[in-house]
Amino acid sequence: MSEAVIAIDGPAGSGKSTVARALAGALGWSFLDTGAMYRAVTVEALARGLDVHDAGALAELANSVTLTTLPRVTVNGRDVEDEIRSETTNLAVSVVAANPEVRRAMVRRQREWADAQPVGTVVEGRDITTVVFPDATLKIYLTASLEERSRRRGDEDADSVARRDQVDSSRAASPLRQAHDATVIDTTDRTVEDVVGEIIRCLTAQRSR
Ligand code: DC
Repeated sequence: MSEAVIAIDGPAGSGKSTVARALAGALGWSFLDTGAMYRAVTVEALARGLDVHDAGALAELANSVTLTTLPRVTVNGRDVEDEIRSETTNLAVSVVAANPEVRRAMVRRQREWADAQPVGTVVEGRDITTVVFPDATLKIYLTASLEERSRRRGDEDADSVARRDQVDSSRAASPLRQAHDATVIDTTDRTVEDVVGEIIRCLTAQRSR
């Protein structure tokens, strides 16, 4: 594992990506959006005409594709940055992310990626504090009201966001849940700078213990 990992989990629209990106920038660390990885696999599966419920085909795909998330999200060298946020992807990604073999492949890639980071890294997703990096330097669980979260998702309505929350939290494989030792931060009505400042204070306090 890289020297330091800040693990951030939370539901859709809780501010994970925005906060994680700004936090990584403030610390001079790298940043990994693991939701983009599940989304990229989903886009590729749909492009190949695969049935996302075909567990074996999806597992094979997740193990064999080449993925990048920065500076752009690509799959096998194809830029899918825009496609990963489409409504079609929103609808299919929860099925792909519930596949245990796909998860195994993604978790392995996420740990390898963190190992390769020279300083520290900020990683965000749904199972980062609970499964991927249970020994992270700092664990944060972000949340916000459903109204605020669907507003942040722009054109995704509250029902769609709530449906994805429900699937992500109730699935058998690594459901979204709060790690018992995570610091919970409600980002409703708070600025990104404010939340980043709070996390940096938590990190400083953690390190002086
Ligand atoms: O954070 P997001 O909306 O981009 O995540 C897309 C989907 O992937 C969502 O259904 C949750 C799932 N996901 C997951 O199961 N585990 C992760 N570590 C990250 C995302």
